Amino acid sequence: AILTQDDLKKIAAYKAVESVQSGMVLGLGTGSTARHAVARIGELLSQGKLTNIIGIPTSKVTHDQALAAGIPLSDLDSHPVVDLAIDGADEVDPYLNLVKGRGGSLLREKMVEGACKRFVVIVDDSKLVTHLGGSGLAMPVEIVPFCWKFTASRLQKMFEDSGCVAKLRTLGGIDEPFVTDNGNYVVDLYFKSSFGDLKVASDGILRLPGVVEHGMFLDMATTVIVAGELGVSVKNK
Ligand code: A5P
Repeated sequence: AILTQDDLKKIAAYKAVESVQSGMVLGLGTGSTARHAVARIGELLSQGKLTNIIGIPTSKVTHDQALAAGIPLSDLDSHPVVDLAIDGADEVDPYLNLVKGRGGSLLREKMVEGACKRFVVIVDDSKLVTHLGGSGLAMPVEIVPFCWKFTASRLQKMFEDSGCVAKLRTLGGIDEPFVTDNGNYVVDLYFKSSFGDLKVASDGILRLPGVVEHGMFLDMATTVIVAGELGVSVKNK
């Protein structure tokens, strides 16, 4: 049988949940892949195969899904050390650096996943890239709404040598800005050519006043689980 992309996401998610043990504090990711992991954790809890789990959701959507699935929830204020986080990604490079945030939850994801001992990324093989930002797809930057055009144009200028175009993310079809869980906007950066060193780009973006966070997750993932037509592969840092 031919596997759909959603089947592959589910296979990667279930594989990641195999490393969840009772008593763990878990970072719960956001998106169409992470959703399968949250559902599976809820299922194992309800079957009594896992006990004593505390989930730290990375978005309001995941909070609601996890609550409905019966996963006890907390936050980083009460549980500043997370044993394991499981989340999807938009791009994964050969060094396990990621682009995240096309679903808009990058800030909470980065806070939770930056606080975990192990960060397992789950993807189907369409997410593998040789260079971050090279796929022609968006690199998200969360910015404060105040004078967003000013911040967007400074971001575009910063990467003008790479043919960068900065676009405010809007709600499908209409001209209303997309608003994050934190009340901020998202500017998506599109590049015509490579923007060079990732760390330099990261530092440059974060230095701009008005920027809250960006979607490059550098040196954070400890494991990436990739599901493809031919099976599952596990890459460790
Ligand atoms: C949410 O903001 C994102 O970081 C997602 O984790 C990422 O976009 C992967 O989502 P999918 O699993 O839906 O592709």
